[in-house]
Amino acid sequence: MVDQIISKSIAGISPSATETTSFLANQLKRQGIDIISFAQGEPDFDTPDHIKEAAIKAIQEGFTKYTDVPGIPELRKAVADKFRRENGIVYEEDQILITNGGKQALYEVFRTICEEGDEVLIPIPCYVSYAEQIKLTGAKPAFFETKEENHFRPTLEEVSKSFNPNVKAFIVNSPNNPTGAVIEEGELKKIASFLIDHGVYIITDEVYEHLIYDGKKHVSVASLGEKEKQMAITVNSASKTYAMTGWRVGYAAGPREIIQGMNNLQGHATGNINSIAQKATIAALNGSQEAVGKMVQEYTKRRDYMVKRINQIEGLRCQYPDGAFYTFPNVTALYGKTYNGNRINNDLDVAKFFLEKAHVAVIPGVAFNYPDYVRFVFAKSLEEIEKGLERIEQAIRR
Ligand SMILES: Cc1ncc(COP(=O)(O)O)c(C=O)c1O
Repeated sequence: MVDQIISKSIAGISPSATETTSFLANQLKRQGIDIISFAQGEPDFDTPDHIKEAAIKAIQEGFTKYTDVPGIPELRKAVADKFRRENGIVYEEDQILITNGGKQALYEVFRTICEEGDEVLIPIPCYVSYAEQIKLTGAKPAFFETKEENHFRPTLEEVSKSFNPNVKAFIVNSPNNPTGAVIEEGELKKIASFLIDHGVYIITDEVYEHLIYDGKKHVSVASLGEKEKQMAITVNSASKTYAMTGWRVGYAAGPREIIQGMNNLQGHATGNINSIAQKATIAALNGSQEAVGKMVQEYTKRRDYMVKRINQIEGLRCQYPDGAFYTFPNVTALYGKTYNGNRINNDLDVAKFFLEKAHVAVIPGVAFNYPDYVRFVFAKSLEEIEKGLERIEQAIRR
């Protein structure tokens, strides 16, 4: 008799909190309720036309069959050129794997280098999928807290204090989801050097590298030196930079042995990514970057407005994020307040209160392993941001 239908490893992971909240918000929308969602982490801009046109051309020319598992050579060359041009890293084409979004690249890295007994050290708050993906490999996620007073940037001191000999890999996510924190080059060098001395791989998730403000600079770990390059696996994606979330194009680059292992896994799990999306991504990487600059300008305006407005609302307090498109305000001043007989005790209750009383969706900090905060997305029009925050202010006043 089967007493457990699903495996222990699948039973051990939780659903993605961002997807659950977005699902709930969409359900309310379908009931005719006017929900403003600051939940889903994706650009509201359309994919630029020249990228769409490349995809249309690919379909018309019949480019609709299986491709090489790691991606067509032309795309891997475009990615290698991008790394040289934008990050100053020389990767050969056989060190590059095209994946189904950055998400698949991350899972394949963990699956390729981690196993039971290993730990992956993660600064929190962190992206919702790291811990669950790591658990699926049998390895253990290990966390340490970054501090608001350090703008949520991890420090060497925090890394070295939380280190133990089981740590096989460390995650750098700069700019960070959900805080927007960008690690400065000096600290990044020190952290990388400590990790390399201890034989730890650095998985560097750079999907927000272009969404960066106030003249801050993105530094890619593998560009720091030859040793760093040998120990880094760089993960990136077309999703956020080119407003291409639905196309599902990501990539990983790193040591040949690791990339080959990931490629073998991908060959059996999913095969190549969508052939048409590969052609579109060549146009994205090799074509004009003007649209990216315009989006960043627009995000800057929205960020400035959102942070200023949030700080005018009693009970919310937040800093200017360095990058990405999220603000992460502290909500503890709302604890102890009541509405309709419900007492607000934590960030989950705050998110529920915003949804029920202001019809605004946000993600509670606990989803990022960091309670007492909530995440707002500012990849929304200024009108929506204005309206949503006005509603929250009114709901709190009431
Ligand atoms: C930090 C971070 N890494 C990776 C991803 C994965 O994005 P995608 O699979 O669309 O490339 C996301 C998406 O939200 C993210 O926020």
